[in-house]
Amino acid sequence: MSSPAASDNLMEAIVSLAKRRGFIYPSSEIYGGLNGFFDYGPLGSELKKNIRDCWWNDMVRRRDDVVGLESSIIMHPKVWEASGHVAGFSDPLVDCEKSKQRYRADQLFFAQVRITNPEFGPDVVDALFSKGRIRKSDHESLKQSPLPTQVFVGYVSALESEDTIGALQKEAEEFKKKFQIRGTLEPVDRTKREMADVVSDEIAFIPSPATGEPGSLTMPRAFNMMFQTNVGAMTDSSSVAYLRPETAQGMFVDFKNVIDTTRVKLPFGIAQIGKSFRNEITPRNFIFRSREFEQMEMEYFIHEDADWSKCHQEWIEWCRQWLLSIGLPEAKLSLYAHKKEKLAFYSKGTTDIMFEYPFGVQELWGIAARGSYDLTQHGTASGKPQEMFDETTKKKFVPHVIEPAVGVDRILLAVLCAAYAVEDVTDEKGNTEQRTVLRLSPRIAPVKVAVLPLIKNKELLVARAKDLHTKLKRKYAVQYDDGGAIGKRYRRQDEAGTPWCVTIDFDTIEKPGDTFTLRERDTMKQTRITEAELFKLLDEQVY
Ligand code: GAP
Repeated sequence: MSSPAASDNLMEAIVSLAKRRGFIYPSSEIYGGLNGFFDYGPLGSELKKNIRDCWWNDMVRRRDDVVGLESSIIMHPKVWEASGHVAGFSDPLVDCEKSKQRYRADQLFFAQVRITNPEFGPDVVDALFSKGRIRKSDHESLKQSPLPTQVFVGYVSALESEDTIGALQKEAEEFKKKFQIRGTLEPVDRTKREMADVVSDEIAFIPSPATGEPGSLTMPRAFNMMFQTNVGAMTDSSSVAYLRPETAQGMFVDFKNVIDTTRVKLPFGIAQIGKSFRNEITPRNFIFRSREFEQMEMEYFIHEDADWSKCHQEWIEWCRQWLLSIGLPEAKLSLYAHKKEKLAFYSKGTTDIMFEYPFGVQELWGIAARGSYDLTQHGTASGKPQEMFDETTKKKFVPHVIEPAVGVDRILLAVLCAAYAVEDVTDEKGNTEQRTVLRLSPRIAPVKVAVLPLIKNKELLVARAKDLHTKLKRKYAVQYDDGGAIGKRYRRQDEAGTPWCVTIDFDTIEKPGDTFTLRERDTMKQTRITEAELFKLLDEQVY
């Protein structure tokens, strides 16, 4: 794992490239942006579409057991009551009343600071007390009695980071310096605690990460993450509706419709790609956690007696293989099985495919075994049982479900992080320069091939280039670029992640064979290729 500074720099470089080359812009930038919202520019929208298309082709079109769906974003509010989102789709929120910063209590940690063999006088005891760092009872006893060998002198807090213990330790060192305490710092309890678990008589002593001082943090409270809106002309409680926080409920609510209108048989899946909205307390890490994002979810329905664990494992492996197929390196992927005690009561198991982002190893794709919870809930709430009939046992049953759920934006960020490289290149004359390259898989690269006429004022050469460009455009995303020196044009395409450039040069028009120079992005190797060979290459690599 790279150092924090190196990983910050890497993220900065990726964000900067994404902006400079038109992959991703902050939303509403001319008005100062809106936290947690992003726009995808010309290259970004192509890249995103390619990720969606690859998933849809592999998940729906190339399988016989999965069908597609596109449900509405705003659904009947009862959907979200039945699903449990109205009551429970919340994160614990902590406010800093002084700075107006908000934190997710499960991402804010605190620990107690202890000093062993302490040395400090009554003045320090007074200072600690006046700064709200120690309780009144401790104040009195510390001033009166000789110092014990170990003294608790307050709390430190830190936001989630890869090395939270390290961050807490640093804060504790500063604490010690600030109050001029001598002795050995037993910096933090090795068992750091989440702010979500704070008890009420501790909250006043925990410093806000924003101000460094205690006294301004509120106790955690549940904050529902669904965006509310009103449907129709009335703005009262009867018109309240929600922007969906997940696409999954569409599949459950339309379960019967799909069964009744298609020839699906268990086991089968319903898949959907679409926008979801969550009023995240702390959107961060660029597009990793945003407030408007896109999900690709599939609900795979199985018989209640089926081997759900085997099916779960098969889907985990399917998802992993799919990520490899769009070019994510195996070494950056890992699996995390959620602890049983942290699972929702209905869940039989959830495994996340994790990706090593520059800011840490984080969830990319969650694969959950949800039992029959969702269909049962909707059956009860709507009064329309969501059941199937078992021809063998002649009994009705509610199918169980395995759900692979992933965010398009998270995949796109993973892909950019894995593909980004800056490397030295030495030309034939021995001059070395740096090139930035996105090693995107041809499956998802926004531009598959760039057509470059060597010079732009040679009629025959330009005509051949334009002819090739027109033919390629019918099937692929292609760019025509005749601006500037050929080396510069190659670099431009490297940064955009274009796997191949074809240069129409003098040999094309003067020598027999009608061949072009094919320049490969990753190796920078140049070979000659015919039009038919170029189409064959694209056909094999772009699928
Ligand atoms: N139906 C289940 C469900 O929605 P989830 O773990 O909350 O499960 C699934 O979300 C996936 O959606 C996540 O693994 C992640 O890839 C993506 N996702 C969730 N919240 C996101 C956010 N705020 N920004 C971007 N992607 C998000």
